Amino acid sequence: MASNITINGVDVDVTGHPDQMPLLWFVRDHLDLTGTKFGCGRGLCGACTVLLDGVPIRSCQTTLASAHGRSVTTIEGLADRNKIVREVWVEQNVAQCGYCQAGQIVAATALLESNKNPSDSDIDASLIGNICRCGTYSRIKTAISTAAQRMRDMNANTGEGA
Ligand code: FES
Repeated sequence: MASNITINGVDVDVTGHPDQMPLLWFVRDHLDLTGTKFGCGRGLCGACTVLLDGVPIRSCQTTLASAHGRSVTTIEGLADRNKIVREVWVEQNVAQCGYCQAGQIVAATALLESNKNPSDSDIDASLIGNICRCGTYSRIKTAISTAAQRMRDMNANTGEGA
């Protein structure tokens, strides 16, 4: 089946690749977008999280066929959208080994784009299933809350959203 997928704003022809190939394989092995990680390969850890039409999904469990005609954003494609999130991540020293962090940041970015003032339970719910073997959860939560506050402050100062 001929198929096009928009990946990080670029229309990509995936013709010739197996329909059932996991999206994760395609972005890592064929597009060299290696920010998205392979963890469990079973939809359990969240290391492979990307956005599909703006919604966080497990790319290890998403086939090329199911992404046909849709928009995929990997951690590399978020560079212009999550500057504050990335700044706060560094300030809070969130990462320990760092392996899961791309998936965590993709999920956090999606949360903050849909919810400008997330509660603790909103943050917990958005990160369910994004496993961190180093146990950086408290720093992740602090970073998300801090980023949300900073984004609200910035919008208030610029009059955005008023
Ligand atoms: Fe996809 Fe673990 S590698 S959820």
